[in-house]
Amino acid sequence: MIILGLNINHADTSACIIVNGKIIAAIEEERFVRKKHYAGFPLNSIEFCLSIAKLTINDVNFITLNYSPSSNLKQKVFYIIKNIISISTLKKILSFKKKLFYTSDLQRYLNKNNFNGKIINVEHHMSHIASSYYNSSFENAAGLTIDGFGDFCSTGTFLCSNDKIQSLKKVYFPHSLGILYQAITQFLGFKNYGDEYKVMGLASYGEPKYLKEFEDLVQHNSKFFFLLNLDYFSHHSNSEFSYSFSNGIPKFSNLYSKKITELLGEERNPYDKIEKRHFDIASSLQICFENIVFSILNNLYQETKIENLCLAGGCALNSKFNGLIKERTPFKNVFIQPNAGDAGGAMGSALHFLRKNEINKASIHQRDNNKCYLGNSYTNEFIEDKLIKKNQLIKSYSFKKLDDAELYNEVANRISKNQVIGWFKGRCEWGPRALGNRSILADARNPEIKDILNKKIKLRESFRPFAPAVLEEFANIYFDINYSSPFMLNVVNGKKIAKESVPAVVHVDNTCRVQTVSKSDNYHFYNLISEFNKLTGVPILLNTSFNENEPIVFNPDHAFDCFRRTSMDCLVLENWVITR
Ligand SMILES: [Fe+2]
Repeated sequence: MIILGLNINHADTSACIIVNGKIIAAIEEERFVRKKHYAGFPLNSIEFCLSIAKLTINDVNFITLNYSPSSNLKQKVFYIIKNIISISTLKKILSFKKKLFYTSDLQRYLNKNNFNGKIINVEHHMSHIASSYYNSSFENAAGLTIDGFGDFCSTGTFLCSNDKIQSLKKVYFPHSLGILYQAITQFLGFKNYGDEYKVMGLASYGEPKYLKEFEDLVQHNSKFFFLLNLDYFSHHSNSEFSYSFSNGIPKFSNLYSKKITELLGEERNPYDKIEKRHFDIASSLQICFENIVFSILNNLYQETKIENLCLAGGCALNSKFNGLIKERTPFKNVFIQPNAGDAGGAMGSALHFLRKNEINKASIHQRDNNKCYLGNSYTNEFIEDKLIKKNQLIKSYSFKKLDDAELYNEVANRISKNQVIGWFKGRCEWGPRALGNRSILADARNPEIKDILNKKIKLRESFRPFAPAVLEEFANIYFDINYSSPFMLNVVNGKKIAKESVPAVVHVDNTCRVQTVSKSDNYHFYNLISEFNKLTGVPILLNTSFNENEPIVFNPDHAFDCFRRTSMDCLVLENWVITR
């Protein structure tokens, strides 16, 4: 059975192909078109997945989509009646989704290629939870999904048992913690789609002095989970809320109403200085979000009595919250899919359909929950033919090819001498984090390296932290972590030794967004960090995504361009080493 899963109804469009129960490839369209959170039809992603699987679209039996317009109909009708609004008004309110409906592009593509398989719609939150549960190693798990909205729903709890997923409770439009987080992110002057992670970084500098005000913004209890005070929001209002697309990138008008300034004071404009008040609002938002979700999780545990938890949805990328789950709830084992946001729904919808219909049950338990390297890769020969030969003419660069052992040694040495390395090796990562295949690497021991990276390469805000990649066997020596965190989705406390020996990856509140690296997770990256450990006695590298305010580099040309544009000292493309 060949299934092509697509995310075409939301930002971060993507594709994933599953052949006879095995995930062969998955990638986001933004990598190809070079636009962050691209929402256009993922033609390149589809063709990439098919080419890796050595198939054509006519070999595909099923295309699964991570939305289902017929789902949650009762709630949609109830909302219309309760709010005495016309269907056309509701359509307008929800037409952000309608605008994003690429069904016609898909149909055109399939007609052109005489596709004769079947299209299957899978409800949005079911796709989210399936992306987590069916990639986890758990037989039984409680499930939680949280996002802005998908199929009229923003939050879902689930019982995942014996390869079946049962929906327990849902929170419907217009109540959403994703919208709350996005609205306050905008209020704090970060207007781009997907900027919430910046506010999470900002939160560490503040104190939660606005918790009382947030109690007015959102109420919560165990019965209805939470309710937004809609007076402070505009997303439900036809007259106030609007959206647009700029070359396929979603842009939202402010999701908060003017009334919010009575509660939180003046909004911050994007170029205004960030003041103490802004840090405190960010901190209060983060604590408010955590308190509500921990309350949901504690109730979910009481309901299911299962110690395994699967998380998905855009809010599951809140690594600060993720790092506290074991401390604040009875859950002992937590799995979060590396691509927890909407792009991951392409895989989730395909896995959901597979598990419902796969006749060969033998494949069901062959889960490979560390598999996140599902994108494109290039051979040394390709790099030599297409890039090195062309650029060897440029006298200001030197090029050499090393074997693996020489490469680890050369790069570890350079890092230990404060050089910044662009590291491009193996298949690219599935999801927003660079996990050692499309990474910029630096020496976490150097407290100055953060400023060097921020100013010379990443061109990003100085308040955002950098993350450590640590050999898994040393992780609990440096950090408060006793489990693996291969996808860099957990923020935990750094121990005294971390602050002393790797200050560049310890945030202002003493926290660290840790990636643990084992040999089975990532062979080359593990060996490189091991070599650095041999040289310096420190089994940790600073690991940040290989980009410069753009999607993570996709091919060797992008990597070389980024190297040339910035002050990076050295570029590694597979076994090729390029220096200035
Ligand atoms: Fe979603």
